[in-house]
Amino acid sequence: MINIAIMGFGVVGSGVAETITLNAKAFAERTEGLELNVKYILDLREFPGHPLADRVVHEITPILEDEAVTIVVETMGGTNPAYDFSKKALLAGKSVVTSNKEVVAKHGAELQAIAREKGVSYLFEASVGGGIPIIRPMWQCLASNQIKSVTGILNGTCNYILTKMEKDKEDFETALKQSQELGYAERNPAADVEGMDTCRKISILSSLAYGKTVSTEDVICEGITKITYDDLVFARENGYSIKLLGRASKEDDGKVYVITAPFLVPKENALSTVNDVYNGISVVGNVVGDVLFCGRGAGSLPTASAVMADVLDVVRDCKKSIGWKDEKADFLGDMTCFATSNYIRTKAEENTIKTVFGAVNVSNRNGWNVFITEQIKNCELLTKLEKLSAEWVRIRVMQ
Ligand code: HSE
Repeated sequence: MINIAIMGFGVVGSGVAETITLNAKAFAERTEGLELNVKYILDLREFPGHPLADRVVHEITPILEDEAVTIVVETMGGTNPAYDFSKKALLAGKSVVTSNKEVVAKHGAELQAIAREKGVSYLFEASVGGGIPIIRPMWQCLASNQIKSVTGILNGTCNYILTKMEKDKEDFETALKQSQELGYAERNPAADVEGMDTCRKISILSSLAYGKTVSTEDVICEGITKITYDDLVFARENGYSIKLLGRASKEDDGKVYVITAPFLVPKENALSTVNDVYNGISVVGNVVGDVLFCGRGAGSLPTASAVMADVLDVVRDCKKSIGWKDEKADFLGDMTCFATSNYIRTKAEENTIKTVFGAVNVSNRNGWNVFITEQIKNCELLTKLEKLSAEWVRIRVMQ
């Protein structure tokens, strides 16, 4: 019997317990008859009436002291106490499996190093892309490649909101509320809509792809809160969808440029068709070319699916050391100099726009002038936008 402790019994943690019951027979078949047993559930709350209510503990000590527990599932969210508890569990010689992107982005390299030292695993498949297999494929199946770029719709909540706004003309707040009810959003949904969740996920993917810690503080992070229905319609009429992307790309200067921001994605690009809670991640390797991963990016059972894949890896004794060096990335390029073309929505007059930007095609939508710029470096664009002396919103256009 394999004894597991689940730390955090919210949307994902309860999904993990449900999956263990639902797929018990299949898991036994895949682990030479071993039975998985949830021995402890660590949570501040009680769960009266739940079949596992008698497993609930409110402190980590019994889990750390119980040698029968070999795998700890961390689905608490937030940095602390999740980081502290994960570290303690690893130091106590237990493998840790997590869905916590905040901890992985911030402390992943350190926890991976502790796991290696203790001869156990620290696995985090569920931290990016919900149910989509992406960490292991990048680490294993694409290991023969140098990664040229990773571009992903990495937040289910934002993709759900943008889809609902565009297709059903729902307002932002209603769509956000629905995504909270469906268990997609973070406890504080600002992390979703202001881009930080995507930023953490692209930090994890770029650390994995390029071998050192890409810290979220070094990544430009913009969210979707300024996007309106009119922006989505303009995009559609001009052959684009608007998607919040996390993107890391290695350019000809050898530097890696990482950003989180909404982009106008051309209709010909498969990511433009990834809607609702789905995430899509395009990886370009120098040998394989393009690979696209797609699936449900948030929600209880899809995320539990990824958590349980890691648990099964530990059970099958596939000793895994997935990760990157505990060193700050020294390969990042300055994103403020990166050139893109841009969709601009502004209150400035058409004459002023043309004086500043030259012969652009300006149209009017509900009191706003909108246009698309030529390719221009971000720093130069900001100077020009300043010269408009009027309110503006910018969305980059994906090349
Ligand atoms: N809030 C996250 C999302 C959950 O919407 O993608 C999955 O990481």
